[in-house]
Amino acid sequence: DGYRAPHPNHRQDRGAEQTEGSRFDESLPLPGFANEPDTNPALPANQAWARAALATATPEWLAAQPVPPTVAEDQIDALVGRARDAATQWAARPATERATILYRTAEILSARRGHLVSLAAAEAGKAVAQSDPEISEAIDFARYYAHRALELDQVSGAEFTPDRVVVVTPPWNFPIAIPAGGTFAALAAGAAVIHKPSKPTPHCSMAILEALWEAGVPRDVCQGVFPDEGPAGRRLISHPDVDRVVLTGASDTAALFASWRPELRINAETSGKNGLIVTPSADRDLAIADLVHSAFGHAGQKCSAASLGILVGSVYSSERFRRQLVDAASSLVVDWPSNPSATVGPLTEDPSEKLRRALTTLEPGESWLLKPRQLDSSGRLWSPGIKDGVAPGSFFHRTECFGPVLGLMRADTVDEAIELQNATDFGLTAGLHSLEVREVRTWLDRVQAGNVYVNRGITGAIVRRQPFGGWKRSSVGLGSKAGGPNYLMLLGTWADRKRPS
Ligand code: ALA
Repeated sequence: DGYRAPHPNHRQDRGAEQTEGSRFDESLPLPGFANEPDTNPALPANQAWARAALATATPEWLAAQPVPPTVAEDQIDALVGRARDAATQWAARPATERATILYRTAEILSARRGHLVSLAAAEAGKAVAQSDPEISEAIDFARYYAHRALELDQVSGAEFTPDRVVVVTPPWNFPIAIPAGGTFAALAAGAAVIHKPSKPTPHCSMAILEALWEAGVPRDVCQGVFPDEGPAGRRLISHPDVDRVVLTGASDTAALFASWRPELRINAETSGKNGLIVTPSADRDLAIADLVHSAFGHAGQKCSAASLGILVGSVYSSERFRRQLVDAASSLVVDWPSNPSATVGPLTEDPSEKLRRALTTLEPGESWLLKPRQLDSSGRLWSPGIKDGVAPGSFFHRTECFGPVLGLMRADTVDEAIELQNATDFGLTAGLHSLEVREVRTWLDRVQAGNVYVNRGITGAIVRRQPFGGWKRSSVGLGSKAGGPNYLMLLGTWADRKRPS
């Protein structure tokens, strides 16, 4: 789409935000898309704003915030029925109306950034440096999918029929951006949504739903529910009137859903086991900063995180590289988010069995370059760990552990490094640090991952600029990427072969 001036979203002082109203004129065509800027942490006013948001985020405060209702198995039919009925009118509305509502939603979320920071801190343990960009991402999803809805409407005419009922099941690790992205996309395409929050983060999901309702999405078009612990979840996923499930989560969950209903249409972003290669030609200081940021941001609880550093030749044997890597990881401030200086927060949940194994056990050939330590009695706060000598084909090479552990692998050549990087079942993100053009070309030809990054970190994809999605076992049923131009086209059916490419 051609460039149009963005609306003035470059406000820098977050302190003023709560009093501002809508910043776009609904009588005009939508403003052009521009990514929402993150908070500038250098401004004293914003530091005060962040401190206030974190001070609010107590467990008592969180408990007083709303969550979606819990429903039992015998309520699922009525729930899906309401969505199905509401979908007819929603899809019949002009795309401009749906797009305007999404733009309004973006304005509401933008005005509530401080509230969302508090929720993400209290509920998911997120440091501001981690939650702030995902709030920008949620806002971006609303505006970007609004534009894509208009374009889809123009290209498709009568060919595209949106799904009627889409169940959105987000994860807890990006408790704002991912619940927002899946829900906004389905609504933009013209579907009704049943949003099932991730168990640890219902308050964050609820904040997204409230913004949508206030912006004008009818309640039955977007319902939020928790299936109870019994068979309600299975009933919902298996319901014949649910057209599609949008899942971001573990690949085992996607397999479970498919076992419940083999013909289910599912768009799933699933697990990753991502490596970043550093070759001898790389800028090593930059590589270290990117490795540390990608491995330990949000305590490694990102599907995109770097959990393998694959070091080629002289990089692997360099004592200086190791020392600097350890120094960089040791300088992270690991603490609960109530400490505004924390750069790495706690695990959102108690460590899984896999993560506990990664944090506490060495496999044959491995040694600790930096041993992770449990920092308090909660069991959730861990200092970063770096294990050396991860062997090809070993547990840590091939298993997603989802926590603050980076494993180093040795490769004698770039070819060998690429083989190690590709030798997992997953293919979500991958990185290369190299200043040698031939190496970069070879790597780009051969790397098996959806999001590939050269000379930068491998987390933090930005809407429109870096559409996000994987291949191999990192993706189920997707032919396109979240935050990318074709995502909405997946959320419906096409009458014939005229689907635009
Ligand atoms: N979209 C998230 C990232 O890129 C998962 O880190």
